[in-house]
Amino acid sequence: MLRFDILTLFPEMVEAVLQHSIPRIAREQGAVEYHLHNFRDFAEGVHQAVDDRPYGGGAGMVLKPEPVFKSIRHVLPQAGPAHMVLLTPQGRRFNQRVAEELAKQPRILMLCGRYEGFDERIRMGFAWDEISIGDYVLSGGELPALTIVDATVRLLPGVLGDDASAHEESFGRGLRGKLLEYPHYTRPIEFEGMKVPEVLQSGHHGEIAKWRLEQALKRTKDRRPDLLDDLHDEE
Ligand code: ADE
Repeated sequence: MLRFDILTLFPEMVEAVLQHSIPRIAREQGAVEYHLHNFRDFAEGVHQAVDDRPYGGGAGMVLKPEPVFKSIRHVLPQAGPAHMVLLTPQGRRFNQRVAEELAKQPRILMLCGRYEGFDERIRMGFAWDEISIGDYVLSGGELPALTIVDATVRLLPGVLGDDASAHEESFGRGLRGKLLEYPHYTRPIEFEGMKVPEVLQSGHHGEIAKWRLEQALKRTKDRRPDLLDDLHDEE
């Protein structure tokens, strides 16, 4: 069982997403627990301010250290040791390899920032694994945290069912390694003049596997040749 502790100013936003699809199924199966914490609950004063103006001037607000430290010190003792994830565009880039790494953890604590940034003492105070989901700036860490939760919980044993589809997919470590997916078809056999390829109707498993591999290779070469370079680099 994997336990997530998610520290956020918008627990309702995070919970809303966790109530759907695979993240919900993973929780119902007991493969994962989500514990949401609002660090505003740990802020002082009538206004419970969690941000303040930056020393040295400049635009935007900065997340204050006190409510964050207090909330983390409250949450951490609630279970065993946690892998600490800080969502920030300055972190290492998230990918399928990182998701596989995280899926092996027993407990992950994630801090979602808002505002222009964190007081540097928050960075210094804990042994963070700083993670970015890509080179763009979002308004907060909630969507990155949910992205990471989704990519991670679908890798937990039993969550996707017996056909092990997680392992066959693009970017997984399955037989086809880092190739993009081949084209999929379902019924009807003809739709608005577009037909399902003959080979997929043949029932010939060898031919089907060969066609799919060819298609996956072609698609990867056309769209993401960088993935094929990575493949050779790893050999
Ligand atoms: N917070 C804001 N933008 C982000 C990003 N791209 N990745 C992770 N955390 C973020």
